[in-house]
Amino acid sequence: MSREFSSTEILNFKHLAAERAVDFINSGMVVGLGSGSTAKIVIECLGKRIIKEKLTNIIVIPTSKESEREALRNGLMLSTLIDNPRIDLTIDGADEVDLDLNLIKGGGGALFREKIIADSSAEVIIVVDETKLSFSLGKLCPVPVEVHPLAVRSMGEFIRELGAVVSLREDSKGNVFKTEQGNNILDCRFGPIEDPHELARKLSMKPGVIEHGLFLNMASIVIVGGKEGIRHLKR
Ligand code: A5P
Repeated sequence: MSREFSSTEILNFKHLAAERAVDFINSGMVVGLGSGSTAKIVIECLGKRIIKEKLTNIIVIPTSKESEREALRNGLMLSTLIDNPRIDLTIDGADEVDLDLNLIKGGGGALFREKIIADSSAEVIIVVDETKLSFSLGKLCPVPVEVHPLAVRSMGEFIRELGAVVSLREDSKGNVFKTEQGNNILDCRFGPIEDPHELARKLSMKPGVIEHGLFLNMASIVIVGGKEGIRHLKR
């Protein structure tokens, strides 16, 4: 579904889509902020728009410490899901998006908070460059599964039996990656997933699985930046 683009082109695509996404934010909203490189651009665009258009009373709820730092850098007003359990709109990135607007997320390891915040949001806008579009989830990237350290080996075996090639995520220094919750991530390469709902069900029912990166029926709109400009995909 995609061709090769340079990293500068991809960055431009992300910018285009991020700018469009923040147009959906109005004064007085509670906004969930995603994580990752696209979400970082969204946060910057939001900071600029608030100043330029004098928007007021926008409260943001970040999905990771990194997004929290980014929000502070951009002068945004932070809150938590405990103080604001109802979010008007969340804007986040994704690693892969299919034609039904189902997603794989968690490439940055923030899937646990991302899913809770998406689920608490009246609307979820996903911002991607066109290389993330896929006919079948699993074709482009592995499904990250956050597991409690106690269950790493047993869950690895279980997921291998489901047909995936499983690897324990490491950080850039080669150490075992830890999520903000102190858990591990198994990156599970299934290839094209025939029935993402069934796979999600099987993963969710296992004790030891904290969360998985299949975000199904959660996105309301996907804004895609690409060679031809911006496209809106709606459910
Ligand atoms: C973070 O855990 C992820 O879910 C990100 O939203 C996803 O990996 C997309 O990241 P980029 O915008 O950096 O591609």
